[in-house]
Amino acid sequence: MSEWFETADGILAKVWGTLGRGVADAKHPARRPTFATISPDGWPEARTVVLRTADREAGVVTVHTDLYSDKIKSLHATPRAALHIWDAKQDLQIRLQAEVSINSGAKTRALWDKIPDHAQQSYGVTPPPGTPIETGLDYVKDPDPATFAVLDCTLITIDAVHLGADHRRVSFSRARHWQGQWLSP
Ligand SMILES: Cc1cc2nc3c(=O)[nH]c(=O)nc-3n(C[C@H](O)[C@H](O)[C@H](O)COP(=O)(O)O)c2cc1C
Repeated sequence: MSEWFETADGILAKVWGTLGRGVADAKHPARRPTFATISPDGWPEARTVVLRTADREAGVVTVHTDLYSDKIKSLHATPRAALHIWDAKQDLQIRLQAEVSINSGAKTRALWDKIPDHAQQSYGVTPPPGTPIETGLDYVKDPDPATFAVLDCTLITIDAVHLGADHRRVSFSRARHWQGQWLSP
């Protein structure tokens, strides 16, 4: 029987399985991808986020954020992001490139109402995220549905690297209907 990493289809299935595990399991490494954007003045910027949903059929993953955070300004300027995951147990690096749409207000209200109180604390702070403050705690958490945003990340490419006894790298793209292309690692 072949191993999952020996075929492009096996790797793609493992990528989506891993993203699904990240959504479902708070301890899984795919739970907290690095989410990279381009700042309005062209700087790369990266931060940890929580992976909220992963839909293989649609090729979409989602992330929640504060509408007033700097990443939103970046996404208004360049509505693209990269997500990065390293799953050491599976020796698997996953890199995703996505077009991002920002949803907030009435569109996200029903979802907001389902978020537990303690988690709502992450959305809404005075002064807004990134504002200079006098001391480390000169802010007030102020959960507010008006500041809650869902980032729909429509995947354009998936790049997977498996570091086993052999190294394998394969690229998938929406344009090629997610058919795998092996790449020299
Ligand atoms: C473990 C962990 C999980 C995080 N999850 C999120 C998240 O899901 N959404 C989010 O906007 N920020 C999250 N953050 C905070 C971001 O990393 C970042 O500090 C914040 O969003 C401000 O980033 P920005 O100024 O680039 O917008 C998380 C941070 C850590 C350490």
